[in-house]
Amino acid sequence: MNNDKNMNVHETGSFEAMTDFVNKAKAITPEYYHEVNTIIDRHLNDFVEKTGRRPNVIDIGGAGVLPFDITIPNKICILDIFRKPEHLILPGNAEWIVHNILSEDMLDKIKYDVVILSGVLHHLADKHNNIKQNLKICLENIRKFLAQDGCCLIFESIVPQYFGELQDLLYPLYSRILTKVLKFPYARLLSLKEITAALNAMNFQYRMLDFKQINHHYFAGYKVSSKIYPISYVCIKIGKNL
Ligand SMILES: C[S@@+](CC[C@H](N)C(=O)[O-])C[C@H]1O[C@@H](n2cnc3c(N)ncnc32)[C@H](O)[C@@H]1O
Repeated sequence: MNNDKNMNVHETGSFEAMTDFVNKAKAITPEYYHEVNTIIDRHLNDFVEKTGRRPNVIDIGGAGVLPFDITIPNKICILDIFRKPEHLILPGNAEWIVHNILSEDMLDKIKYDVVILSGVLHHLADKHNNIKQNLKICLENIRKFLAQDGCCLIFESIVPQYFGELQDLLYPLYSRILTKVLKFPYARLLSLKEITAALNAMNFQYRMLDFKQINHHYFAGYKVSSKIYPISYVCIKIGKNL
């Protein structure tokens, strides 16, 4: 699947340069990962209890963070636009696939019981922004991955609607600063309304799950207070059995 034609790393940006993203992100926002971990583990355990088998899990844009109990799933697939960092050792039940979730040739033969996206949606912006179009393409590909009774857990940092629109206005300027000065991938934070509008338009069934908010955030490798970076977190569960 490592097909350069579909990778578009240069268009979407990549975390490849951040060699130690896993440790850095976890050290800066342990509370975020604790919350994500708790929610995912609850779903993995529920799945085992209901079906009597262990779930197959795909962590899209997972970066190798693995924010869940890795002993519960049968198989774990990490799908990311960048290659597995060499120093990162994966558990025996995990594989890393280099692929773009916006790709048209998405692998859709294998279905997953639990699909995870944590902190990925706002990085679907590209050189020309295109966040709303790319969000729909990503959701379409998630649908292809989902097993009949599977669920998808989306964890995302969201902003007020006006902030989303402000980013569109300033995108040509701030996207250059992000990518050229901070050496960070493209990003356009979404509002909850923008995400749910896409889900509704695509006839997804979904439900908001409680997510305990935190006071500090990860931004381009730095710890930033919510006083100056006004984001909050949501967890959206997609699936038929909500
Ligand atoms: C902010 S990091 C989040 C990593 C991890 N899921 C977490 O919760 O810490 C965003 C991840 O999404 C990946 N990503 C961004 N765009 C992608 C795309 N189009 N296809 C696949 N992965 C992508 C990045 O390479 C990066 O690993």
